[in-house]
Amino acid sequence: MLDVQALRQQFPGLHRKQNGRLPIFLDAPAGTQVPQRVIDAIVSYLTHCNTNHGGVFATSRQSDEIIDSAHAALADLIHAPSADEILFGQNMTSLTFHLSRSIAKTLKLGDQVLVSRLDHDANVAPWLLAAHESGAEVRWIDIHQEDCTLDLDDFRKNLSARTRFVAVGLASNAVGTINDAATICREAKKAGALAFVDAVHFAPHGAIDVQALGCDFLACSAYKFFGPHVGVLWGRRELLEELPACKVRPATNVLPGRWMTGTQNHEGLAGVAAAVEYLTEFGRHCPTSGVAFPDLTGRRLELRVAMTSIQEHERTLSREFLKGMAERPQYKVWGIADPTRVALRVPTFALTRGDQSPHHLAERLAERQIYSWSGNLYAIEVTERLGLEQRGGFLRLGFVHYNTIHEVQRTLSALDEI
Ligand SMILES: Cc1ncc(COP(=O)(O)O)c(C=O)c1O
Repeated sequence: MLDVQALRQQFPGLHRKQNGRLPIFLDAPAGTQVPQRVIDAIVSYLTHCNTNHGGVFATSRQSDEIIDSAHAALADLIHAPSADEILFGQNMTSLTFHLSRSIAKTLKLGDQVLVSRLDHDANVAPWLLAAHESGAEVRWIDIHQEDCTLDLDDFRKNLSARTRFVAVGLASNAVGTINDAATICREAKKAGALAFVDAVHFAPHGAIDVQALGCDFLACSAYKFFGPHVGVLWGRRELLEELPACKVRPATNVLPGRWMTGTQNHEGLAGVAAAVEYLTEFGRHCPTSGVAFPDLTGRRLELRVAMTSIQEHERTLSREFLKGMAERPQYKVWGIADPTRVALRVPTFALTRGDQSPHHLAERLAERQIYSWSGNLYAIEVTERLGLEQRGGFLRLGFVHYNTIHEVQRTLSALDEI
């Protein structure tokens, strides 16, 4: 079992009291709190090595080392073949638009691009733009409305020899569904298309393995997995080397510099490496046995153990929450609501209550020091598909590993009060 109290001690943000009470942070889908070591790494970078990279003097050499360590850490976190396939940028959205400029140049009239109705718009709009600019046709993967899972039959119906690009999320930031992205990538590749996976929402909840997924690109964002505001994009080496990249002329053609435009957020990268260190150290001390992962060693093994342990704890939270919701029929849980199916979702819950506006519900929770978000959460295709866009979307309660069973129970009581 996860020692949540010990882990929470590492997160100073969780201990900031409001009206004498500890808040419950259910806002993680919009950004998690960070452990002290991330704060320390950022301060230390700015204090001791603040400069540009690639110089011949001490602080620049230290900057190079820190930046390299962030690439290596992320490669381990997502099981990428090599560190120079990891690209950093401002956030996932900017990196995805950047890549979509290049993908647009490879598309032509008659090609098809496949996107889903379950995704955050950052994994939809860039591809709509690429299709619009190139004359490619956009096809949509629909959802099963009853549990907000992706409709794989619909995916197969829309996949054809004309499909050039498929974009899918690993988990929904609105309703929490985990998608069978490995199957989608495999079938997309078989049809001759490239596969892009948005792992932003999934990243704090479980292990990511780009090689097992079989995707061509995968994006995530460090501020969702206990790090600072930095975006991450992984691409298959041959694609990163061959695709036309938008870059300034003196920039190197060698990876990763070919894709990382302008000066990076160096202090942020120091924080990214520290966030991965946090997870690694946690995995090193985890009771879960590494025997389950005979192919992994070192940091990759420790990270896999950490993320597996996180997943187990979060499933306990999900079961507790969903059992509680089953006793509160005044609320509707959108998405998988069956406590026996928690392995198919992350603990991100989208709720509505009759005609009450989700914004109003979030305000009532905020008065009780429970921090949540409401609205379409940028998953606008989802709220439109479910007929909720005009009604203010959802109330979203997003749990992560630093949340406790006690917090689930306090949240359920607060939902009774409001
Ligand atoms: C699933 C998903 N994809 C993409 C994004 C966009 O990420 P970023 O803020 O790094 O651009 C978000 C942000 O909430 C998200 O939840």
